[in-house]
Amino acid sequence: MLPKKVEEALNHQIREEFYSSYLYLAMAAYFEDKSLNGFATWMKEQAREEVGHAMRIFNYVTDRRGRVILEAIPQPTTNFSSVQEVFEKALEHEQYITGKINELYALSVEEKDYPTQVMLQWFITEQVEEESTVEAILERVRLIGDHQPALILLDRELAARQSG
Ligand SMILES: [Fe+2]
Ligand SMILES: [Fe+2]
Repeated sequence: MLPKKVEEALNHQIREEFYSSYLYLAMAAYFEDKSLNGFATWMKEQAREEVGHAMRIFNYVTDRRGRVILEAIPQPTTNFSSVQEVFEKALEHEQYITGKINELYALSVEEKDYPTQVMLQWFITEQVEEESTVEAILERVRLIGDHQPALILLDRELAARQSG
């Protein structure tokens, strides 16, 4: 049996992952508006992956004979003033999600829920990757500063992100 507290926390995490997808779509829309199509492609792929994360937890809850309760997804921020700010907010958000995953893990330890601990290991590894990827782009965006040609080159590079 999936402990009640863990089930509730997993349901919250499903919403967090859908919210992540929503936030990255809002960022993609900002980039589309600025004709930065490569950045937009990258963010849309990021949004798609977040839906995958939500579904991973969704399927896990149902596999454990738990009940998925979908919660309302808040409206994401749509006000961005620069490419750099978008990536600062993306990094901040991934750090927040890492904190949530860690809290979930701590709860599953407290509840002696071993299968959830194993399931969460994938997310713990994923968060290291997520933070490092966003941080690497942010560093390059900072280096680029106001240099438009370099920004366009990075835009072209990010357009090559493969879905998978
Ligand atoms: Fe995620
Ligand atoms: Fe993420």
